[in-house]
Amino acid sequence: MFNKDVLSRYFLAFAEKECKGSSLLYEHLSIKIATDDNLLEICSNAREGQPIPNLLFGAVHYLLLKGTEHPLKEYFPSIVDNPKLYKGSFEFFKDFCLKYRKEIESILKTRLVQTNEVRRCAYLYPAFCTIYEKARKPLALIEIGTSAGLQLLWDKYSYSYGTNNIYGNKNSNLNITAEVRGENTPILHPTSPPVSTRIGLDLNTIDLNDEEEKLWLKSLIWPEHRERLSMFEKAASYIKGASVNLVDGDGISLLSKYVEEIPEDSVVCIFHTHVANQIPIEKNKQLLHTVETIGKKRDVFHIYNNIQDRYLHLDYYLDGIESHNTIAETDGHGRWFEWLLKSEMQ
Ligand SMILES: C[S@@+](CC[C@H](N)C(=O)[O-])C[C@H]1O[C@@H](n2cnc3c(N)ncnc32)[C@H](O)[C@@H]1O
Repeated sequence: MFNKDVLSRYFLAFAEKECKGSSLLYEHLSIKIATDDNLLEICSNAREGQPIPNLLFGAVHYLLLKGTEHPLKEYFPSIVDNPKLYKGSFEFFKDFCLKYRKEIESILKTRLVQTNEVRRCAYLYPAFCTIYEKARKPLALIEIGTSAGLQLLWDKYSYSYGTNNIYGNKNSNLNITAEVRGENTPILHPTSPPVSTRIGLDLNTIDLNDEEEKLWLKSLIWPEHRERLSMFEKAASYIKGASVNLVDGDGISLLSKYVEEIPEDSVVCIFHTHVANQIPIEKNKQLLHTVETIGKKRDVFHIYNNIQDRYLHLDYYLDGIESHNTIAETDGHGRWFEWLLKSEMQ
């Protein structure tokens, strides 16, 4: 059971750090929820370790997208064409939560925050190009916390970074755009480096061929973020024909077993974005130790964030030599990033 003061602080921090400049609706509602005992009590049903505000908003959005009729829907740009201004929304939000309390509590108890954010591939693309320059072998991808596996298909998408140049798969239906900030230029190959294997590990992998599971992921996309939704839909169309091995289980415990299956003619690339913050510190230490142990036997690259800090890191063990690098500062949703590696270090 959660303490209401703690829950209240979660919502205030969520409003300030995550919603500001991104969702007026969720920012407004979060500030109001933070002072509402009834709603905080509903939230106390969430699973430990889960980001509770995302989970509550995801649950309400899910029920609305499923067709639940309620005046609250008038405030959701993902549902109506001309939404009402967020200011009057709280009264309806509260009424909705009390009316559908049982359904919401059941979602809070069973679902996980598993947003699969395709735009994060905008900064993964130069990271994989950097790896390919060093390893010169096809990349064997193992993603921890893969959700539906959409980031395992980063080589299938095309990329633009504020110029006319297009990188990656130039024929892709999905063109991902991002702003590159700062003075350093990331390595961007005109076409995607070769990928030999795609393995996705997750406590609960998502099958996008299952309409219920797909709807849950769509519910986690904030109502104002139409572009995110469109990118998600386009990326989802690639998963159908793709050869991706999605495996349920703890990614850290499963890692060594799947690395052993990768032949020596490919280089092992372990990666994860916005996952380590859901993993206890001791387990994250174990993960870094496992990568180090793998690095004693073969070359291995590890791209990640949210272990030591929010920055994007690239650690590697190449020909027995280890290297630890902070390679980018990134926007949480991948809309911009600042590349931190100077070209002579790449
Ligand atoms: C916020 S989502 C991020 C998904 C994806 N990496 C992205 O950036 O779009 C976090 C994912 O990590 C998964 N996860 C959390 N702990 C995990 C663990 N120990 N092993 C494998 N997956 C885990 C969750 O189930 C969830 O799908």
